[in-house]
Amino acid sequence: MATFPLDVVIMAAGKGTRMKSRLPKVLHRLGGRALLAHVIGCAGQLAARRAVVITGHGAAEVEAACAGFAAAAGVADGADGAGGVQAQAGNALAQADNKLALDFARQEPQLGTGHAVQQALPLLADDGVTLVLSGDVPLTQATTLQALLSQCDGQRLALLTLTMSDPTGYGRIVRAGPEADAQISAIVEQKDASDAQRQIREIYSGIMAVPTRLLRGWLARLDNCNAQGEFYLTDIVKFAVADGLAVVAHQITDAAQVAGVNSPVQLAELERVHQLRLATKLMEQGVRLADPARFDQRGELTCGQDVEIDVNCVFDGRVSLGEGVRVGANCVIANAAIGAGAVIHPFTHIDGEKLGVQVGAGSLIGPFARLRPGAQLGAEVHIGNFVEVKNSTLADGAKANHLAYLGDATVGERVNYGAGSITANYDGANKHRTVIEADVHIGSNCVLVAPVTIGAGGTVGGGSTITKDTAPGALSVGRGKQVSIANWSRPAKIKR
Ligand code: UD1
Ligand code: CA
Repeated sequence: MATFPLDVVIMAAGKGTRMKSRLPKVLHRLGGRALLAHVIGCAGQLAARRAVVITGHGAAEVEAACAGFAAAAGVADGADGAGGVQAQAGNALAQADNKLALDFARQEPQLGTGHAVQQALPLLADDGVTLVLSGDVPLTQATTLQALLSQCDGQRLALLTLTMSDPTGYGRIVRAGPEADAQISAIVEQKDASDAQRQIREIYSGIMAVPTRLLRGWLARLDNCNAQGEFYLTDIVKFAVADGLAVVAHQITDAAQVAGVNSPVQLAELERVHQLRLATKLMEQGVRLADPARFDQRGELTCGQDVEIDVNCVFDGRVSLGEGVRVGANCVIANAAIGAGAVIHPFTHIDGEKLGVQVGAGSLIGPFARLRPGAQLGAEVHIGNFVEVKNSTLADGAKANHLAYLGDATVGERVNYGAGSITANYDGANKHRTVIEADVHIGSNCVLVAPVTIGAGGTVGGGSTITKDTAPGALSVGRGKQVSIANWSRPAKIKR
């Protein structure tokens, strides 16, 4: 744990031209969360006291979105610029009493990375270390940043670096000699580099940790006399060397941790890296994925023992799969808790949104079933193909196996709900409840017009429209009486 106060600056003012999108680059999603949300989440795991996001392009949109990310990461939105309300950083790496305030500094126009960090200076106190991150680099791990911070140790300029086979486009780490740990003398940008410097394969990741007091002095000395006419943050390395201050590198080998997103292609590449990491983590816990390359987790997924997931499933929001759950191919499951031993057959769509969905132990769902918010299924419930359940409770052993709708219904134990039956829960203005008591048998193609109660053990004849409550044990039939005309001759076709 760092023994010096830590502030984080997240650069997010750039335009992201190559995304060719109206959406600011840092708001594009990876693993279901905005790129910037990943970075703020990572900052939330460090024992930092403040994070300053540098905004420019789409500033208002980015700042508005940040409030949501901060809440999710347990970070406080310090929009008053003075630290704001402080909230607990809820995560393992942070100290229990750690608090991180989130602030913004606008950079308009964008004159380079050095200019970007300059905008944050009024919010940074000299007693601390500043960690510079980019809002478009989503996969950095907190442990990597902790290692960089210990290299910095409150007094050195520490750079996160990486050796690449193709370093084209990156700032190169210039060292005084050929040895891998020779003294660092500068970072030279691709466009300013000599042919010899372009041969250097050690690159600057864009992430550094620097004592704030020194940073402030060095940023004041920046100029834009370079190939791009920008104020380069990387020029502070020259100043540190000139001032006789130690410049150190924390070298990593995992390129994905410092990879930035500049285009849809890079976004998709990083998404796969991210997904493979999540998939690997699950498999290490014992989850059997039919194919980790065809698996997508966009939120929090917790799995019990012996869970099996077939190909092309998407998990979103908060999902838990109990012990022995099997999920068939091509299911989308969001915001749901699936009980032990349940089987979700292929092509099932479950989304609990805010209300959640609960599937009881041993239930069989799908194929082609749809469970919507507030579907609460007990144990051993069967929901078959083309059945939709919304805001309804189904007690243990209830079954709706074919082509049915249950909305705003309370369904008792062992109820059998026939093919094609629906609850007419909406009168055009208000929603009403249907109660189907235990052991009821609803025939096929029935309309239950809510509010209505079907008494326990009752039977409703196929094709009935039920508008009045029925007594327990009764057979209720509500349909036109059948008429049969004997020896009926069909009209003959007229010859012309
Ligand atoms: C920068 C580094 C380079 C490094 C590379 C790693 C500089 C001068 N160069 O180059 O050494 O190898 O990152 O990816 O720092 N941004 C602003 N305001 C600005 C300019 C940029 O907020 O005025 C933000 C961008 O939105 C982005 C980040 O800073 O998030 C990096 O900017 P970018 O233009 O991608 O820097 P590079 O030229 O790639
Ligand atoms: Ca870049």
